[in-house]
Amino acid sequence: MTNKLKYFVGNWKMFGDFSSFKIINKINNFYSQNKTFINSKIIFCVPNTLIYFFKQKLKYNSILLGAQNCHHRQHYGPFTGSVNAKMLKKTGADYIILGHSENRASGESDKLIKMKVESALKSNLTVILCIGETLLEKNKGKTLSLLKKQIRGSINKNKNLSKIILAYEPIWSIGTNKMLDPKEIQKIIKYIKSSFLKIFRTRKEPIVLYGGSVNGKNIELISPISEIDGFLIGGASQSSKKFIDIIKNYYK
Ligand code: PGA
Repeated sequence: MTNKLKYFVGNWKMFGDFSSFKIINKINNFYSQNKTFINSKIIFCVPNTLIYFFKQKLKYNSILLGAQNCHHRQHYGPFTGSVNAKMLKKTGADYIILGHSENRASGESDKLIKMKVESALKSNLTVILCIGETLLEKNKGKTLSLLKKQIRGSINKNKNLSKIILAYEPIWSIGTNKMLDPKEIQKIIKYIKSSFLKIFRTRKEPIVLYGGSVNGKNIELISPISEIDGFLIGGASQSSKKFIDIIKNYYK
C-alpha cells in the first residue's frame, strides 16, 4: 500500500529461551520469501540472553536484533546485574528499546533515559525511544505536553538524531487489547513529528512507531495512516502467526 519503509518491531519483554528461535525463524522465512514486504524492516528486541545465539543463527538472513534496556554507564563498573550498551552491541544487537513505560514505571526518569540514549548512540546502537501517557494524564488532557516533555527530556540536542526512532505507546493501551482511536493516533503522531522538528531545529522528520495492543485485526484500522512509520509489537510478537498476520494485513 505504500513504498515508504515501514518498521515492524517485536518487543519480547521477559519471554523466550533458545528454543524460541523457531518463532523468529518462521518469520524470517516468511519475510525472505515474500517480495511484497521488501519495504519493511523487521527487528526483534529480545532478552539479552538470546541476542548472541539468535545472531549466529540469523547470520545470512534479514531480521535484525535489538535489546530492551541497558545501564547508563558506558564503561565497565561495579553495577551488579547490569549490562551496558557497548556489551549489547558486541553480542550482536543493532537496536535498543529505551524508556519503555514498564521501565519508567520502575523509576526511570527522563534524565536517566537521556544518559542511556547517549551511551547507546556512542555504542552505535539505533535507539527506539518509547514515550506515552497514562490514562490519568490522558483524561486530564495532558498527553501532548507530556510527550513533548519526554522528547525534550530524553534526547540531547546535539546528538545523532538520525539514529533515534520514537515509539508512541499510550501506556493504558499496552497489553490491554484497547487501542486509541485512529484519528487521535494520527493527530498525536503528527504532533510528535512537528515537536521533534521544532525542539531539535532540524528538517529531517523522525521515524515514529505506534505501539499498544497492535494485532492482526486492529492493524487494518491504522494501516491507512501514512504518518505511522511502523509498529512496536509486544504480545503478538511472541507468536509467528500473529506477527505475520500483522504484516500481511498491513499490506492487504
Ligand atoms: P503490547 O506491548 O503489544 O503487548 O501491547 C507493546 C509494548 O509494550 O511495547
